[in-house]
Amino acid sequence: MRLVEDQVAVITGAGSGIGRTTAKTFADQGASVVVADVDTDGGEATVDAITDDGGEATFVHADVSDSADAEGMIETAVSEFGGIDVLFNNAAIEGPVSRLDEYDNDAFEQVIDVNLKGVWYGMKYGIEAMLADDGGSIISASSIGGEVAVPQYSGYGAAKAAVSQLTKYAAIEYAEEGIRANAIAPGIVRTEMIERTIDEHPEMEAQFEETEPMPGLADPEEIANAVLFLGSDLSSRVTGVTLPVEGGYLAQ
Ligand SMILES: NC(=O)c1ccc[n+]([C@@H]2O[C@H](COP(=O)([O-])OP(=O)(O)OC[C@H]3O[C@@H](n4cnc5c(N)ncnc54)[C@H](O)[C@@H]3O)[C@@H](O)[C@H]2O)c1
Repeated sequence: MRLVEDQVAVITGAGSGIGRTTAKTFADQGASVVVADVDTDGGEATVDAITDDGGEATFVHADVSDSADAEGMIETAVSEFGGIDVLFNNAAIEGPVSRLDEYDNDAFEQVIDVNLKGVWYGMKYGIEAMLADDGGSIISASSIGGEVAVPQYSGYGAAKAAVSQLTKYAAIEYAEEGIRANAIAPGIVRTEMIERTIDEHPEMEAQFEETEPMPGLADPEEIANAVLFLGSDLSSRVTGVTLPVEGGYLAQ
């Protein structure tokens, strides 16, 4: 028996990196997946990869920071697949690498819009649909930067800390109604986001390689498997936590 057989999962930012790999993992494990992203080419490529492997997926163009788009991606799950069981609020942007006094104001607002407001909208409309059905599991992407201060990431880190806090609120407000809410806190994962940062700041590559006590960078599959655990009944008594997936970084 596959772990999320006949479940419906909405995954934001599934056109790249962790989101794409998680979408494939959920489809492999029996879920129908709504691939939501602002990047149409990336999102459609994820859908093609899933359907080529015999899985079920559909793409919806959605900017998670736009309430109508966020509502629309949840409605797509209901109209195309009959409901929603799992929501992975994964979409985010890294924002500038910059100390606070030099951090651009518009960039700060954009980071908060996508990384915090986007998760809040996802929760709001996802919970509404889950309440109308038989509950579900919400997983949101936080980061080690939301748990401890990582220099030059103040906007990103503040949004990620808020994601972990929102997760606790969602967990306790809906615990009696069959909705679980958890977050993950990855360390450094080999994705397009990290490749972009290395392209702009080549000196950071060596620093990234040495960040986690476990050697090297994480593979997206290692994060996807943690999301699968939190999205499936394997974690049926787990709610309100932020699960570190960071090679021991936060244990130091
Ligand atoms: N890569 C890492 O090292 C790392 C570490 C900790 C946490 N994370 C978190 O994991 C998540 C995934 O990161 P990734 O490394 O796969 O990033 P990525 O840049 O490879 O993928 C992010 C995806 O989100 C999409 N996206 C961006 N803004 C959007 C919006 N407004 N609406 C909808 N989609 C949007 C992008 O188009 C892209 O497809 C993020 O929340 C990130 O903060 C990543």
